[in-house]
Amino acid sequence: MKGAIFFSGKYGSTKQYAEWIGDATGFPVFDIKDPQANPSQYDFLILGSSIVYYKLTIRKWARTNLDILKDKSKILFSVSGAGPSDKLNRWVAASFPTELMPQVKHIALRGRLDHSKLGWGLRQILWVASLLNRDPDSSKDERYGFDYMDKSSIDPIVQMVDQYKSNENASAT
Ligand SMILES: Cc1cc2nc3c(=O)[nH]c(=O)nc-3n(C[C@H](O)[C@H](O)[C@H](O)COP(=O)(O)O)c2cc1C
Repeated sequence: MKGAIFFSGKYGSTKQYAEWIGDATGFPVFDIKDPQANPSQYDFLILGSSIVYYKLTIRKWARTNLDILKDKSKILFSVSGAGPSDKLNRWVAASFPTELMPQVKHIALRGRLDHSKLGWGLRQILWVASLLNRDPDSSKDERYGFDYMDKSSIDPIVQMVDQYKSNENASAT
């Protein structure tokens, strides 16, 4: 089995999860911005994407590579402030290509937001969003930032890969 991880993120948390998963599975890790990132060479893909303004940031790349991604085994992990919930599932389903959605197993991971890394304009947008947000926890996260990074949250992904590898070994013998 030839597997690889392709991720899309800006501030480092999606990359960090991709690297942890890479260490645990032995799969190479590619930033989708890297011109060498070619999913066609692999038969098992782990796609990682941050969520920005309720959308997966990997969505355009996924659409561009639709024909390659179709019919390969895939896991999608999202990285967001919001935790696993119906709301998050709806954001993912609405921004991932419809054709691929039934083919992926989605795992929701929680990321990090460090206001000191954001520009002034973005901080203002998040401040206004926090004033309008009716959910007190999520409003606080928007206003002050958060760090929900948790290495153990990749365990279900690593288990799925191990399962896939052992199924493959069983069918080869
Ligand atoms: C401009 C901006 C918009 C965001 N929008 C959302 C959102 O709609 N929902 C959410 O749960 N988290 C949102 N987040 C939080 C990010 O998903 C979170 O910080 C994530 O860890 C970023 O991933 P990265 O570090 O790989 O870029 C937003 C963060 C930023 C900076």
